[in-house]
Amino acid sequence: MSHNIEHIRLVTFTPIKLSEYKVAVLETTPVKANLKVVSLANIISKNLSKPINVNIKHVIKSKNFMKLGDEELSYVVYLMAASSVPLYLYNFDPQLQCIISYISLPKDGVPTLHTVALVTRKNFKNIGKRQTFFIVIAKTMEKNISMNMVRQFYKMSWNLIAYKLRGIAGNDVDSVPPQRVYTLLVQLTLEKESDVVEVAIPEFNEAIKVRIPIRKPEWSLNDMPPKLRNDIETIIVKPILNKASYAPRGILITGPPGVGKTVSAEAISSALKTRIVELRPSTYRSMWYGLTEKILEETLQAVKRKSNVTVLLDDVDFLVGRHIAIHETHVSEITIFLRFLQSEQRPLVILTTNTPELLDPALIRPGRIDVVMLMGYPDREFRKYIAIKSARRYGLELKTEVLDIIADSTRWFTHAEIDALIRLAASKSEGNINEDAVMWARQRFAINESIRKSIQDRLRWFGEQFQGITIKYVPNDNEII
Ligand SMILES: Nc1ncnc2c1ncn2[C@@H]1O[C@H](COP(=O)(O)OP(=O)(O)OP(=O)(O)O)[C@@H](O)[C@H]1O
Ligand SMILES: [Mg+2]
Repeated sequence: MSHNIEHIRLVTFTPIKLSEYKVAVLETTPVKANLKVVSLANIISKNLSKPINVNIKHVIKSKNFMKLGDEELSYVVYLMAASSVPLYLYNFDPQLQCIISYISLPKDGVPTLHTVALVTRKNFKNIGKRQTFFIVIAKTMEKNISMNMVRQFYKMSWNLIAYKLRGIAGNDVDSVPPQRVYTLLVQLTLEKESDVVEVAIPEFNEAIKVRIPIRKPEWSLNDMPPKLRNDIETIIVKPILNKASYAPRGILITGPPGVGKTVSAEAISSALKTRIVELRPSTYRSMWYGLTEKILEETLQAVKRKSNVTVLLDDVDFLVGRHIAIHETHVSEITIFLRFLQSEQRPLVILTTNTPELLDPALIRPGRIDVVMLMGYPDREFRKYIAIKSARRYGLELKTEVLDIIADSTRWFTHAEIDALIRLAASKSEGNINEDAVMWARQRFAINESIRKSIQDRLRWFGEQFQGITIKYVPNDNEII
């Protein structure tokens, strides 16, 4: 338990219209007067509209209040000390005095007492002997507050204010707090976000339930090729985090199989500090006529209501052009997605595919998809990076010479193939990857360089067709050395 003692300020005043009472407020952090916590004071004060005679715990889950700083939230102590608390004492228990504290409890840190007020009779005499009502407002991140903690908060609060009031209140103010008759514990916290998107569609007398997990991204921007990282930050991450009106809302990531498209989608999501909702046809398609559309509509509505998520449509080839769709349901599915992508209030959507030319063209026009990210076969530097990363993931070490050999022998490899090569070489060498093992593993891959070259060219060509912004990681042939 600690409190910041650099800034300590004591303020005393008499509440307007309640001159029987006197208030002392002590702040350890400079309090900022503001209107934002007036509603919080009102919510807490509702508890004071009738006599209290037991301990009460009031949990307030609110993103808005949690966003406020300690300087701002502390102001609630002033507001209550000046009005609702003296009124409560006057109306319901004139013999009582009250201590009001604002405390913050970081997730793994030490609780900090920011502001404490004492509301008592006319002067501060006898404060150490009066029965006391304790109101503690605690901002917490997840912790559950135990009675033992409340006891400690009470002691902390008393010691702090008593120490400062000793000069005014005389000698009866010692470190044993006065008897606490009851407590109002107000726990300010965040709504715990659920980790599924859930919809229920009533059908055949029973509801069809769809549950889509929301997961944490496992890759970060540091896993991206440096050339790409800057563009992603400038064009995607910063505008979105700044809530800019021009921020992209739809991204298509394309490139051949295994070049880190899914990994990139995760990296973007993690840079945005969001979690991922992945929509797959298997979760919303139904064999019943007309039901797929219904389920999909409901699911997308539910997704829209979620905050801090990125929607991932991975390998989105299921949304092929309407002219080549084989089933009318698929046509309406695409139409539903088109409408979703156009709606104003929706989370960022990331699509990945290795056959962009098969997608419905309407899907990837700016307004629905604003940014296309092209991912090609990695250059030498990035191949090394992938090898190091993979090795680390399997708990292996790569010597510099071996790393060079890997880089030399993985021209036109994909990320996934480099990863596979490392695993093969590790198996061959029982974990001590050396030149022989790398050469042995290399022989197991048949890479047709000219086909890959033409795939890379095709990717460039696709980028040129797109009407919106493109971000490219498509090394030139001479960089893939
Ligand atoms: N940036 C990276 N750093 C290290 N390894 C990577 C990176 N990107 C991809 N990999 C490796 O390559 C594998 C394939 O990546 P990913 O699944 O993202 O490819 P993809 O382009 O989505 O492929 P597909 O088109 O088949 O879905 C990953 O499982 C990982 O092992
Ligand atoms: Mg993928």
